[in-house]
Amino acid sequence: MVFKKLKLWILYDTKFGNGKTLADLLKNEFPEEWEIKLGDLKDVSPNTVVCDAPDVIILGGAIRMFMGAPASKKWLKQLNNELDLANKKIQYGTLFLTHVLATSKIQGYNKRFLRKLKKSKRIVKPYPQILTARVKEVEGPFLEIELEKARKYIREFIKWIES
Ligand SMILES: Cc1cc2nc3c(=O)[nH]c(=O)nc-3n(C[C@H](O)[C@H](O)[C@H](O)COP(=O)(O)O)c2cc1C
Repeated sequence: MVFKKLKLWILYDTKFGNGKTLADLLKNEFPEEWEIKLGDLKDVSPNTVVCDAPDVIILGGAIRMFMGAPASKKWLKQLNNELDLANKKIQYGTLFLTHVLATSKIQGYNKRFLRKLKKSKRIVKPYPQILTARVKEVEGPFLEIELEKARKYIREFIKWIES
């Protein structure tokens, strides 16, 4: 079987670099032939991504002051609007959320972020799960077990796309 070379954008919203650390880790799990671009959503406009026409998008954010990734949600909404205007679609999408509170305490944030992805009609196949990764302290680092979880998550995501 011949696989098309897939194009991926990984976007994150970071203050202390945890989001970028996770984005780099995810990037390293993809096969070499994938074309991958990374960026902080403060520097990359939704329009830039639309013009680049990726097949896959991974969008990350953080929980801050009891709010779940508001800047990432806003960026996602703009992306959907821009895709609409350009009459383009992105085939696959998934999300990640970093946090310091116990994973059991952040389930509501996950659900609400995931709902935004599912509402983005121009992202054709939203992955039904979301990756969460817990840091030890707000500045990081991640708990080691969370990094292993992230690697597993993204391998499953890649399998889901390639199946
Ligand atoms: C001002 C501030 C508020 C935060 N509030 C929360 C919170 O309400 N719940 C939580 O789980 N983590 C909270 N955190 C922790 C961040 O989610 C965590 O540090 C995250 O990994 C930051 O990612 P970044 O380095 O990519 O910005 C907070 C961090 C900061 C700096």
